[in-house]
Amino acid sequence: LSPPHPGGGRGGLQTTVATDVDGAPVTVAALVAAAPADGRKTMVVGVGGEPAWLTAAAPDRLDHFALCAVCTHMGCVVPWVPARGRYVCPCHASEYDHEGRVLRGPAPLPLQLEHAAVEEDGGAVLLSTWTEDDFRTGKAPWWTA
Ligand code: FES
Repeated sequence: LSPPHPGGGRGGLQTTVATDVDGAPVTVAALVAAAPADGRKTMVVGVGGEPAWLTAAAPDRLDHFALCAVCTHMGCVVPWVPARGRYVCPCHASEYDHEGRVLRGPAPLPLQLEHAAVEEDGGAVLLSTWTEDDFRTGKAPWWTA
C-alpha cells in the first residue's frame, strides 16, 4: 500500500499562504476568532492545495506545524473530533493524536507535517513543506522519500 502523497517530496519545496475555501488569506487572529474553543483547530487550504489543520491557541500562539488532513491510508480528509481529542478518519476509522501520530490503524503513517509561520507584517499564515526530520519519529519524513 502506498500512502497518498499530497504535497511534499514529489512536488518539491513549496511555500504557500494558507487560505480559506474561497481563496482568501487566513490570519492568526481570524483563526482564533473562528475556531471552536476546544482545541482551536481550523482547516485551511495548505501546501499543494490540500486541506491542512492549523492550531492557534491565541493570536501570538500559532503552532509551528500544520497537519495535512489527508489520511495516510487511502486519502480521505480527516476531521478533528474535539469530543475525543483526536483526528478520526470517517472512511475506515483510523485515529491520530493532536500531533498526527497514528493511534489506531489501518493508517500506516503519521499525518504529513507542514511548517506554519506568520508573515512578518503580522498578516497571513505561511505554510511550507517540512523537509527536516519528523519530530514525532526522529526520522526523515516519509513524504520526502
Ligand atoms: Fe482513512 Fe482509510 S482512508 S482510514
